[in-house]
Amino acid sequence: MEDFIRDMPKVELHLHIEGSLEPELMFELAKRNNIRLPYSSVEEARNAYQFTDLQSFLDIYYQGANVLQNQQDFFDLTWAYLLRCQQDNVRHTEIFFDPQTHTQRNIPFDVVINGITDALKKGEEELGISSQLIMSFLRHLSEQDAFETLEQAQPHLDKIVGVGLDSSEVGHPPEKFCRVFAASRQLGLKCVAHAGEEGPPDNIRSAINDLKAERIDHGVRCTSDRKLVDDLAKMKMPLTICPLSNIKLRVFSSMEQHNILFLLKKGLCVTINSDDPAFFGGYMTDNFIAVHKALNLTRHQLVQCTINAINASFIEAERKEALL
Ligand code: ADE
Ligand code: ZN
Repeated sequence: MEDFIRDMPKVELHLHIEGSLEPELMFELAKRNNIRLPYSSVEEARNAYQFTDLQSFLDIYYQGANVLQNQQDFFDLTWAYLLRCQQDNVRHTEIFFDPQTHTQRNIPFDVVINGITDALKKGEEELGISSQLIMSFLRHLSEQDAFETLEQAQPHLDKIVGVGLDSSEVGHPPEKFCRVFAASRQLGLKCVAHAGEEGPPDNIRSAINDLKAERIDHGVRCTSDRKLVDDLAKMKMPLTICPLSNIKLRVFSSMEQHNILFLLKKGLCVTINSDDPAFFGGYMTDNFIAVHKALNLTRHQLVQCTINAINASFIEAERKEALL
């Protein structure tokens, strides 16, 4: 079964490129850029990746991103992730990047996006991996800051398929970003949002109704509102679920307790993704294997998750046909 899972063609819809920064590359970039890290070794960094909730992770994740300084660093980060995609037979990936994490440190928007997109182009040409880029707003920052970020993105709209919303969910509901999402839609951008990861089911409703999100990132906390579960099934709203992330951030106490199988059986459009693989202990294959082992998902159910991901992707029709 593990061989079957490894060889299965896959589509990833929920991956933060900054969350694919492995400690080895973090140390290499720290040396290259003369930056001091709070860890003395790769092993010490890995040992520090013990989280109690989303915020305890985000603090370490934003700190790690400090080593990313130059266009080449963003290229190297993205290229390393694409090589992992190749190993896991990921054929298409839709990647989040958090420009504010970098522009706040005075790294120009262009440096970030050009480094990432150069690697994505090479990935398409040399590895046959297609990709899309989603610009994610940090929800702990202001609406004004998000608008400024959208402004900075204007010369690069051809490189971005959509906008997302991530960072600390509790206390920062989707409706705070209603206007900037409306402005993004006006520019032809698609909308997705993290909701119902740690926050309440109402955040999922607000992401759909106020932000017009076409996919919900995570969404697993919908189950405390049975009507919402039924509505999500009826709408065929895709959920980009990240099983290993949910365990690491203690959304569920163990994989056996995860509700992914329940949601699949309820007919929701469930997909499996890796979120921040360098921090959560696994890429796509690892996530598929983990849910299979704990919850006994059948081959048919695992393949269904991939078909769901193809259908929920923002791939152009021709490539979609080729993947299906
Ligand atoms: N940024 C990176 N990973 C995230 C996650 N799992 N939730 C919210 N924001 C994030
Ligand atoms: Zn995420």
